[in-house]
Amino acid sequence: MSSLLSKQTGSSPSSRQHLIQVRPELPPPTIATRRVILQLFGGGSSGLACIKCCLDEGLEPVCFESSDDIGGLWRFKENPEPDRASIYHSVIINTSKEMMCFSDFPIPAHFPNFMHNSLIMDYFRMYADNFQLIKYIRFNTKVLQLKQRSDFSHSGQWDVETENKDGKKEKHIFDAVMICIGHHCHPNMPLQDFPGIDTFKGKYFHSRDYKTPEEWRNKKAIVVGIGNSGGDIAVELSRVTKQLYLSTRRGAWILNRVGDNGLPLDLIFNRVMDSVRKILPFGFFCGVGERQLNQRFDHALYNLKPKHRLFSQHPTVNDELPNRILSGTVQVKPNIRRFQGSSVEFDDGSVVEDVDLVVFATGYRFSFPFLASHVVSASENKASLYKYVFPPELDRPTLAIIGLVQPLGAIMPISEMQARWATRVFKGCIKLPSMAAMQKDIVCKQQAMAARYVPSQRHTIQVDYVSYMDEIAKLVGVRPNILGKLLTDPRLGLNLLFGPCTPYQFRLRGPGKWAGARQAILTQWERVACPMQTRPCDEPKCKRSLMWPLILSTAAVGLAAYVNRNSLPAFLQDPTALLDKIKVYLPGQ
Ligand SMILES: Cc1cc2nc3c(=O)[nH]c(=O)nc-3n(C[C@H](O)[C@H](O)[C@H](O)COP(=O)(O)OP(=O)(O)OC[C@H]3O[C@@H](n4cnc5c(N)ncnc54)[C@H](O)[C@@H]3O)c2cc1C
Ligand SMILES: NC(=O)c1ccc[n+]([C@@H]2O[C@H](COP(=O)([O-])OP(=O)(O)OC[C@H]3O[C@@H](n4cnc5c(N)ncnc54)[C@H](OP(=O)(O)O)[C@@H]3O)[C@@H](O)[C@H]2O)c1
Repeated sequence: MSSLLSKQTGSSPSSRQHLIQVRPELPPPTIATRRVILQLFGGGSSGLACIKCCLDEGLEPVCFESSDDIGGLWRFKENPEPDRASIYHSVIINTSKEMMCFSDFPIPAHFPNFMHNSLIMDYFRMYADNFQLIKYIRFNTKVLQLKQRSDFSHSGQWDVETENKDGKKEKHIFDAVMICIGHHCHPNMPLQDFPGIDTFKGKYFHSRDYKTPEEWRNKKAIVVGIGNSGGDIAVELSRVTKQLYLSTRRGAWILNRVGDNGLPLDLIFNRVMDSVRKILPFGFFCGVGERQLNQRFDHALYNLKPKHRLFSQHPTVNDELPNRILSGTVQVKPNIRRFQGSSVEFDDGSVVEDVDLVVFATGYRFSFPFLASHVVSASENKASLYKYVFPPELDRPTLAIIGLVQPLGAIMPISEMQARWATRVFKGCIKLPSMAAMQKDIVCKQQAMAARYVPSQRHTIQVDYVSYMDEIAKLVGVRPNILGKLLTDPRLGLNLLFGPCTPYQFRLRGPGKWAGARQAILTQWERVACPMQTRPCDEPKCKRSLMWPLILSTAAVGLAAYVNRNSLPAFLQDPTALLDKIKVYLPGQ
């Protein structure tokens, strides 16, 4: 911690958390010049990343966590706890280990590429131990209220009220606050859309209350919703039930974890692929993907084909679902029209009798009950935040919401990047634009989301991993200099451009630079292969498939070079910068 900083006043750590001490010769208190004590709440993966980023920036974090452990959603409990996320026993993450790790702490090589929730907890514990984060967390302490102080426009400070597990309330003052409460705690249970549910004789509950399938052996069950929860639970239940029905009101494109040559699918989404996505007309890019998915199984034949395009919906990833459908244990059904006793009628008029269980895998709602609505309000999962982090209307940028995104990719590195940005904003190293500019950016993003995604409460905080990481990284000054690396370190440069956009890329330069980043990038494929090396095999080692990435990458670079022949170096430097220019040449733009 900075030696410039004076001591905290107040008799106990919990009494007056802040207190200003500025060197006498310095100008009046600004957050950049005084000791900043941050309050975080949420000891999940976003909270851990925030504590680490605060420490990296010389800030003093205090984290309040309402439960008795770290891990947030990934901390499995046999019984769901109120107001907390809850997962089923078998959850395996669908973002691969190289894409979901924190940027300066690779997941051990021997861990599987897609980890069970227990291994994810192991990784979070290693991270917390390695950077000694636990001592900053006050467990069993819930934040009840967060209010701007009366001198907020000058001080930017917050009054915070907490309550511990014995019901003891305390008040604190903090210089800045990061909210890391996740957005999968409160179930969306749209019973009003299901007439007759009150007459239903079976059992029903939300997917957050589902734990294991055993109880439903030889029963008839319906799962409503075809997000990742619906897909996972339908597959698992169908192994024991007499019959499982999967009800979806609009269908879905189903992706695999296992991509070509058995590699994790998310490793294919590199920078060039992201650029191609932006260059090509949306419909064309979707069409290419849909054709590939239909080669695996015909979505129309399986009655899953939606009306919308592949990238207009948050992806459902499920390698096993087509197998279950083909073997008849899962039957795909349309939306439920009504319940009557124990029978269920679907929109196509078909009726299933004697239903024992309905699982509503109908997603989640988020809210900020501890905040006044003029600070941040959320309605129907919409909140107006600058780049999903900063409320634009505050006099002082001392409140950040971390992890409130739904990425096509992993949340953890994104939360970490947001935390790197927020802590530097708090310190005054980065200035936010004017309120009008922030609001304009918010509206732009909302319009882009509305144009791309089907209207649904689940599509309000969507981000594309590579683009969003680059966007925030640019603000922080940590976006990799690809042209520079291609010229000075071609092996690394090619990996940055054509390899998976792993989080280590954002530790090569700028604040928070990590000396191990280059090596982590150059060894990432070894960590992908390592967990499979469990039997000596005489065959040549399974080669990773770079065919598609290379073909698409070459096509993209060629297209960009053709359209903008004299600007190729600039394109390599910043693959996204020329996109607007290129787009005008394309059909349908
Ligand atoms: C079934 C399921 C599977 C998922 N799979 C993936 C995946 O494959 N990849 C991926 O990237 N994401 C996945 N997610 C998203 C998941 O939300 C993130 O992976 C991640 O857990 C978010 O971390 P977080 O720290 O932001 O929130 P959480 O993990 O939810 O942690 C929030 C913490 O805040 C605490 N808290 C809340 N309110 C208060 C309060 N008032 N006071 C004090 N403490 C409070 C909670 O106790 C909790 O510990 C999945 C979500 C679900 C539901
Ligand atoms: N293994 C994993 O890694 C894993 C497992 C589970 C969840 N997750 C993640 O956790 C998050 C939440 O996933 P989720 O599946 O729980 O929720 P979700 O993605 O929001 O999906 C909700 C589903 O319910 C449907 N639905 C909502 N309201 C409905 C209504 N009134 N009537 C009929 N259908 C309705 C939605 O249909 P519409 O599309 O029509 O709105 C959608 O199919 C996601 O980020 C997901 O990726 C990951």
